[in-house]
Parts: sequence; structure tokens; C-alpha cells
Amino acid sequence: MGNWQRQFGSQLRVADLLQEGTTKLQDGGIAEPRLNAEWLLSNLLRKRRAELYIDELEKPTNSDVVTKFRALIERRLQQEPLQYLTGETEFMSLPFKVTPAVLIPRPDTEILVEHTLQAISPEKAIKILDIGTGCGNIAISLAHYRPQVEIVAVDVAPEAIQLAKENAKINKVEKQIQFLVADVLGEDFVAQFDSKFDFVVSNPPYISEKEFSTLPIEVRQFEPAIALQGGDDGLTFHRRIAMVTSELLTSGGQLFLEVGYNQSQMVQRILKKSGFCSIKTFRDLAGIERVVTGAVS
Ligand SMILES: C[S@@+](CC[C@H](N)C(=O)[O-])C[C@H]1O[C@@H](n2cnc3c(N)ncnc32)[C@H](O)[C@@H]1O
Repeated sequence: MGNWQRQFGSQLRVADLLQEGTTKLQDGGIAEPRLNAEWLLSNLLRKRRAELYIDELEKPTNSDVVTKFRALIERRLQQEPLQYLTGETEFMSLPFKVTPAVLIPRPDTEILVEHTLQAISPEKAIKILDIGTGCGNIAISLAHYRPQVEIVAVDVAPEAIQLAKENAKINKVEKQIQFLVADVLGEDFVAQFDSKFDFVVSNPPYISEKEFSTLPIEVRQFEPAIALQGGDDGLTFHRRIAMVTSELLTSGGQLFLEVGYNQSQMVQRILKKSGFCSIKTFRDLAGIERVVTGAVS
């Protein structure tokens, strides 16, 4: 037991516990220590973060909360991502459960969803395929903001599909989405769909082998490698998706792909080679080309 643990009894106020966690995280070099401590404590107390400040701070804590909070702080100090510790995150202003079996949805991917949403007319009933759905964040957001669309969402990881189904229920879009365990690299991938799609969307694994070893520990050690590694040059999935979707899209159908910070040019070339036209790119908030889209004629 460390000094900081011995120092406090179980009758700490919430404010004291929050400060204790913040100091510990700050000393351990964790960015935004106060915010991290607030998320962990509010999640444990089943309160919203803002509620901590309304009527919780002066309340005494119970020993169970103190023990659990300290254990979470220790895990955060080992750089375990905050979202895995709380088991939840937000994407496109919607709630999602996350576990270490899935990638934590990133704000960059909201750019992919926003541009896909813009391309879908709000009245038209269309079919969309989401490849590598993870926790279901892309498919579920599209279904939520375009209630007329039907989506098939696939992932090679059964645990991801299980979680995505739960998230679809949480967000009340389960009737719009069919979830399938499927391997986009497998030979029979195209054969398992009995009709074509108007849109294909994907945020595939795209970290190259060389780059993988340079990722922060928080990502490399805790997020699933299968969700990150895109082969030698990071583009294995983009090539494969361009190939299979040229067969899976209806005439005029569109592919939307997320790409790494330095991959836009190469992915545009891949789409051209696979016969796509009207190729365009969209930038993220940092000005990086983050989405590449193309249509089949
Ligand atoms: C970068 S993550 C994207 C997750 C989620 N769609 C998002 O945007 O946060 C890539 C996903 O592709 C899945 N994946 C990896 N290899 C695959 C394969 N061969 N076939 C289908 N999905 C695969 C991973 O399990 C992971 O969920």
C-alpha cells in the first residue's frame, strides 16, 4: 500500500477522493489528470460528470468506492485507456459500450460518418455495407441519423459483433442493422451477400508494420492489434475493399474509406486502378486528407 493509500480513511469526501486521484495521475504524467479522475469517479458513482459538481462533492464516500477508484487510478497510471476503464464512450453524440476487444472510436471517424451522411438523401431508402464495424459506431450512427437506411455491418471478430449488437440495442437501431461475422480478406466474402449495396463505408485497419512499433503504449499495448495492423504498408485492407466493393456496389454506388495521415494519394490511386470514378477526398479538423470516396459507374 503506498503513502497516498495509507493517508486516507474510507470516510473521505468525494471532493477529497477526486483530488487524490487527480494528484496521483498528474504525478504519473497522465495528460488531463483532473478530467480523467472526474470520468473515473463519476462513472463509478453512476453520475454524469457535471453532476459531481452539483451535489456530490461534499458527500462522504464509502470504502467500496474508494477501493475501486484507487484501483482504476492505478490502471490508468499503467496507461490503460480511460474508455476501457469506464467501459463507455461517445461517438457522433451517441453512447457506445467499449471493451478491449474493439478499437475505441476516434473523432477522425466522425468525419467519415458526416460525409457519408451528407451523401445520403434523408428520404431515400438505401442499403449500406459497413466493413470492420468494431463496436458498431459507424453503422449505428448512420442508422440513427438516417432512419430509412438498411445496413449490413461485418467484422472478423465475433466479440466485436456481439458488442456492436448490444450497442445497436442501446441506441434503438437494432431493426435497421444486420450484423455478421465475416472476413473481408476471405475468398468467399462477396458470395455471402445476396444483393448489392448503394454505399460501402469502412474505417479499416491501416497502420503499417513500421509505424505500429511507434504507436503510444496506450494504443499499442491495449487496443486490439487486429483493428490497427494494415499489413506491410498499411494498405492491405484498402486494396482488398476497393476490389470487393467494385463488385458489391450498385451502379453509381459510392465507397467511403478512412485513411491514415499519409495515405490519401495512394488510396486514390488504388480506387482509380479498381475502376472507381468521381474520386474525392475530405479533410479532418487538422487539415489532413482523412476520407477518400469514389463511385462505380
Ligand atoms: C480501425 S477498426 C474500426 C472499428 C470501427 N469501425 C471504428 O471506426 O472505430 C477496424 C476493424 O476491422 C476489423 N477487421 C480486422 N480484420 C478484418 C477482416 N479481415 N475482416 C473484417 N473485419 C476485420 C477489426 O476487428 C476492427 O474492428
